[in-house]
Amino acid sequence: MNSTERRLTTSVLVIGSGGSGLRAAIELSEHGTSVLVVGKRPKMDAHTSLAAGGINAALATMDPEDSWQQHAADTLKESYLLANPQTVQIVTEGAERGIADLTRYGMPFAREGDGRISQRFFGAHTFRRTAFAGDYTGLEIQRTLIARTESLDIPILDTVYITKLLVRDNVIFGAYGFDMVTGSRYVIHADAVILAAGGHNRIWRRSSSRRDENTGDSFRLAVEAGGRIRDPELVQFHPSGLIEPENAAGTLVSEAARGEGGILRNARGERFMDRYDPQRMELSTRDRVALAAYTEIKEGRGTANGGVWLDVSHLDREVIMRRLPRVYQTLLELQMLDITTDPIEIAPTAHYSMGGVWVRPEDHSTDVAGLYAIGEASSGLHGANRLGGNSLIELLVFGRIVGQAAAAYSEGLDAQIRSHEAITDAREEVDALLAADGRENVRALQRAIRNTMTDHAGVVRDEEGLRAGLSELDAIEARMSDIGVHPDIAGFADLAHAFDLKSSALAARATMEAALERRESRGCHNRSDYPDIDASLQVNLVWSGPGKIEHESIPPIPSEIRALMRTVDTAGKLVE
Ligand code: FUM
Repeated sequence: MNSTERRLTTSVLVIGSGGSGLRAAIELSEHGTSVLVVGKRPKMDAHTSLAAGGINAALATMDPEDSWQQHAADTLKESYLLANPQTVQIVTEGAERGIADLTRYGMPFAREGDGRISQRFFGAHTFRRTAFAGDYTGLEIQRTLIARTESLDIPILDTVYITKLLVRDNVIFGAYGFDMVTGSRYVIHADAVILAAGGHNRIWRRSSSRRDENTGDSFRLAVEAGGRIRDPELVQFHPSGLIEPENAAGTLVSEAARGEGGILRNARGERFMDRYDPQRMELSTRDRVALAAYTEIKEGRGTANGGVWLDVSHLDREVIMRRLPRVYQTLLELQMLDITTDPIEIAPTAHYSMGGVWVRPEDHSTDVAGLYAIGEASSGLHGANRLGGNSLIELLVFGRIVGQAAAAYSEGLDAQIRSHEAITDAREEVDALLAADGRENVRALQRAIRNTMTDHAGVVRDEEGLRAGLSELDAIEARMSDIGVHPDIAGFADLAHAFDLKSSALAARATMEAALERRESRGCHNRSDYPDIDASLQVNLVWSGPGKIEHESIPPIPSEIRALMRTVDTAGKLVE
């Protein structure tokens, strides 16, 4: 027992204070179950606050023909048949209720003059079904959920970094962590734990996530506890990330810019989507637009900085100010560029982990009893290509369901069995890092992983590059045994970075091993050495540790939904 350790007890612990964690916590609290939320970022600044353009539900406010079945069909079609049909049905059928919950909590959706919630087009949706609040939708959702947690007095500790899940005999009993400011340790006992700590898209150099978020924490916590990762190789590259300035490279320019009528051009002024998806042009799916931009740049038709142009300057200034205010402000702040008059230079940016912790579709429980995963940490909805706006609705729908499941699990427990050994292991892991005084710099090693992933596991991959990437990762991991960790007067951020590094290394290995195994091109995953879809790989790949990958079959799509899946012309979707 360490005298500086604080011991807390709750029925359900939520790790992550973004939208999915907060929505689950609200459900638990409304149900009367005690809940504690911990996070490594200030709660107002959790990653959800960066989500921009919108949240999907077939409300049919703009297009009366829309239905949840059509939303499900679009989601499954564009997942390249890798999404789980049950997960998709749960989200699309529950989406209207998710929006109603948000509205009940006070969410200020954009509305039409007669009061209907406005809905805009997002890429590859059959109808306008993306509800929004300007291009600050995620920020407004985060604010709305925080206001609700405050009214329910839900405790949120948003400087607590969780280093390990506490498990005995494959049953969770809490988590171990430390305070990022004071360094004091926490042993948190809980009947159930909900992992809502995001994905792994920050392990690429150009990413729409900021430093220190989406570093693969959920992957490491789950795998070390006995969980598995589904489809880590399926990472969405968003077509429009900023190139400059270097320290903000990857910052998102919302798809709303294309949804409102933005046009893509190469350096020669050609509207290049004509070559890649002439039917849908700029409103094609993200995988296709990202690959198109990548190809233009790679084949020498890009800008001098290695980008293409996204132009909204032909739109009414009033439309830009009202519907794209964040893009307008961001470009002014970062580049002193006025998007009402000038085009934006963009290139693909790592944006979203479409795979994640292996969960059951019905309640997002995992391989470990009492452990749930949710939001970007989880898997099942997106397959090989996520429709923009589907992640925000997922967190609303599954936040409610997982909150209910965790409450029921906690109520059903006869006893919580703990393990001194598990707590000792967790404590010793932190002690060892705090004692580490090697010559390797944690930040430099994080950068090395980002370089490896960018060079070998980006928009287009091949066997030779992935094998080279894994060798580089072996070398980086060897260097990790000689790191120095130096908390200082400002706090324990360096210790957090060291754990982020461990998570990033694990996530990088899972990603590259699964990318090697997926010998085909499907959605976001482009293999130049296997340019076609392989029907035998219409499976999920489940990774449970170095060298361990299983193929998991996907249940059939209900005929009612299948009948609504449109045929999309794939001419033009060419891997270089
Ligand atoms: O482009 C965007 O506004 C992003 C939306 C999303 O990833 O869902």
